[in-house]
Amino acid sequence: MSGDKKVLFSGMQATGSLTLGNYLGALKNWVTLSDEYECFYSVVDMHSITVRQDPAELRKRARNLLTLYIAAGLDPEKNCIYYQSHVSGHAELAWILNCFTYMGELNRMTQFKDKAAKHADNINAGLYTYPVLMAADILLYQADVVPVGKDQLQHLEITRDIAQRFNGIYGDVFTIPEPYIGKVGAKIMSLQNPEKKMSKSDENPNGSIYLMDDPDTVIRKCKRAVTDSEANIAYRDEQPGIRNLIDIYCACTGKTSDETVREFEGRGYGEFKMAVGEAVVSVLKPLQARFEELSKDKGYIDSVIRANGEKAGYCAMKTLRKVHKKIGFPERIR
Ligand code: TRP
Repeated sequence: MSGDKKVLFSGMQATGSLTLGNYLGALKNWVTLSDEYECFYSVVDMHSITVRQDPAELRKRARNLLTLYIAAGLDPEKNCIYYQSHVSGHAELAWILNCFTYMGELNRMTQFKDKAAKHADNINAGLYTYPVLMAADILLYQADVVPVGKDQLQHLEITRDIAQRFNGIYGDVFTIPEPYIGKVGAKIMSLQNPEKKMSKSDENPNGSIYLMDDPDTVIRKCKRAVTDSEANIAYRDEQPGIRNLIDIYCACTGKTSDETVREFEGRGYGEFKMAVGEAVVSVLKPLQARFEELSKDKGYIDSVIRANGEKAGYCAMKTLRKVHKKIGFPERIR
């Protein structure tokens, strides 16, 4: 939006506790990307209320997530780290984009179908138009790239369709965003079911390592990880449990899968699981320490929230003004 760097937008929901999968698969890459792009990393609390939330819990989790962004290494001077709900432009643009989105398109969204099935007692309109709010997030900042997991690709596709439709009518208003799928995208699977992604909403807490798990818990979960009876540490499809542990080990140590297989050749699963646990602890320990330290500095976090909220609001306003003008809203009299 300013300068010559391309703009990147991404966000996470403040629901559930972040897992090692969220860190290795997303947050860690965000830090790498922050050199190359002008980044907006939002805590998307408005998306969270599409599912019923406890107010105090939501507020606490949102603040923890924002703090965690910084603890993970995102410099809030260089990256715009802010709460979605602090920038009213998200809701304003979402309304406008709703009028350029067809129900037929929304009916096709697989995440809506999944969530509607899961929350049958609360299939609200917000859950239905969730992708439109997501489109507003991205288009508001004229983002060029959006790092997302595979599960969000359909939402990015509809964002592009809405933007193209709007531009087709009104001229070049929105940048058409591209998905950014990490090159080394460490996709971490559940420790209890290596066919399933490690998820913060998993009912079985042993399947996920949470970023705030203490060392004993991490080691215990690694030791209990579901593997196989081959008694052979190899990186192959037939041994998804071991392969997942190798992925985790590599992501935590920076080693390659070949190196890891060689390192543990002829050794038992027990020993390998222990090494994986220790590698994870060595990543989580400094992260947790930094998080604790930052959490205590209320004034600092508050100042980040204020300054970055304002910055985001300013950027959002620029796009909104353009949109208002294009669609024919009356000019504001000052
Ligand atoms: N829907 C995304 C998720 O659950 C979060 C999100 C909201 C997002 N708005 C976004 C991600 C904009 C990327 C860009 O993962």
